[in-house]
Amino acid sequence: MANDKVSIHGAWASRWVFILAATGSAVGLGNIWKFPYMTGMYGGGAFVVMYLFCIALVGLPIMLAETLIGRRGRQSSVNTMRSLALEAGASKHWSIAALMGMIAALLVLSFYSVVAGWALDYILSMGRGDFAGIDAAGAGAAFGSLTDDPWRLTLWHSLFMLLTAVVIGKGVVAGLERSLRVMMPLLFVLLLVLLGYSFTTGHFQEGFNFLFHFDPSKVQDGILAAMGHAFFTLSVGVGAIMVYGAYMPKKASIGATVLAVGLLDTLVALTAGMALFPIVFAAGLEPGGGPGLMFVTLPIAFGNVAFGQVMGLIFFVLVAVAAWSSSISMLEPAVAYFVEKTGRSRAKVTAVLALLCWLVGMGTVLSFNLWAQAKFFVFAEDGFHLLQWGAEGGKTFFDSIDYLTSRILLPLGGLAFALFAGWMLGREAVRDELAMRSPHLFKLTLWLMRVVAPVGVLIVFIAELIK
Ligand code: PFF
Repeated sequence: MANDKVSIHGAWASRWVFILAATGSAVGLGNIWKFPYMTGMYGGGAFVVMYLFCIALVGLPIMLAETLIGRRGRQSSVNTMRSLALEAGASKHWSIAALMGMIAALLVLSFYSVVAGWALDYILSMGRGDFAGIDAAGAGAAFGSLTDDPWRLTLWHSLFMLLTAVVIGKGVVAGLERSLRVMMPLLFVLLLVLLGYSFTTGHFQEGFNFLFHFDPSKVQDGILAAMGHAFFTLSVGVGAIMVYGAYMPKKASIGATVLAVGLLDTLVALTAGMALFPIVFAAGLEPGGGPGLMFVTLPIAFGNVAFGQVMGLIFFVLVAVAAWSSSISMLEPAVAYFVEKTGRSRAKVTAVLALLCWLVGMGTVLSFNLWAQAKFFVFAEDGFHLLQWGAEGGKTFFDSIDYLTSRILLPLGGLAFALFAGWMLGREAVRDELAMRSPHLFKLTLWLMRVVAPVGVLIVFIAELIK
């Protein structure tokens, strides 16, 4: 069946632009900030191995599913799912998965913008030379003084949200595209420079062992975290890749493209891990220190090398740009949907949605200071509390949104997308979109999408329930 639909929102100039946009979406804070601190929290190698498995067997097949659904439907994720379901004679309620994903993406954006704001603040601090000669205690205190200050956090959060809205509002990725072509390779080069610095700390081996030593006893602890992170880092399960797929040219090969994006993403995360952990050990820091890990270790590195101030400055600019190219993809599914639904201008729709995300993000801003004691989802001896002030257990606002999105909404969304592409769309439609030359490869791919990825998600959910 020929498919000549085009999206009303535009189209990428070539397959390369899709790779750039999808890689821009995938590579972000998830790789440089989240991957190292989660690896630290979940005990190192066991987490990394689980994560790699989840990327290969679950994340990539789902990314493929999203891309092909998007390219076939050529609309926002919600409308694409609805129209393809109707075309295939399935229930239009499949679009609920896309709706849930769209909301999840907005929730991710709400806290992502706050953390990206930290990077903006660090650009300034680096530029001022605040970190010259700094030690672990000083770097910890500097990070603490940032997160303790709701005004400073709000300022950067607002600025970052504005930057995201401006790009999406214009509806052209071209502005960002041009800078990404230069910035992404540069980010990688600077990560390699940091890796070089890590060699000189004398703790490289220790860092390496921590990352790659597989301890089976720790697997169950982090299994849901590893899968959630695989979804987060590849930007799948929310429809972001689906809308990007909708702007993809018909001729491009989806399989090779998705593989390239996945490999690049993994490479950046592993490089960041190998660069960071030796610094953690050399400085006597706790690998399980949580979200502040990168913001405490990197100033130590940059504060103590030649040209560290300039390199640090460039580095945090690149982190901010990597975050920027990810954040726009979180907003796009909802913007595309509401433009289609209301017929209003892209600019207006963007403004409203960005404001909404900004407001939810204020919860994350406050969860580091004034609301630090506000704990949600508390299971205490006297029963369950949705919100309890000062409770021992429970999660802060930031932790709750992070948990809800990465651990629940993204995997569930991904599960639905894989099942839809694998079982509902029809074999011929999938074959037509994938256009693979080798029939064996096509069979393997279909099997990964139909069986392996969905079963993988379910196993991990069950493992978590019986823990
Ligand atoms: N993949 C991004 C990262 O690793 O930073 C995060 C992300 C982007 C999640 C887009 C979800 C999304 F829709």
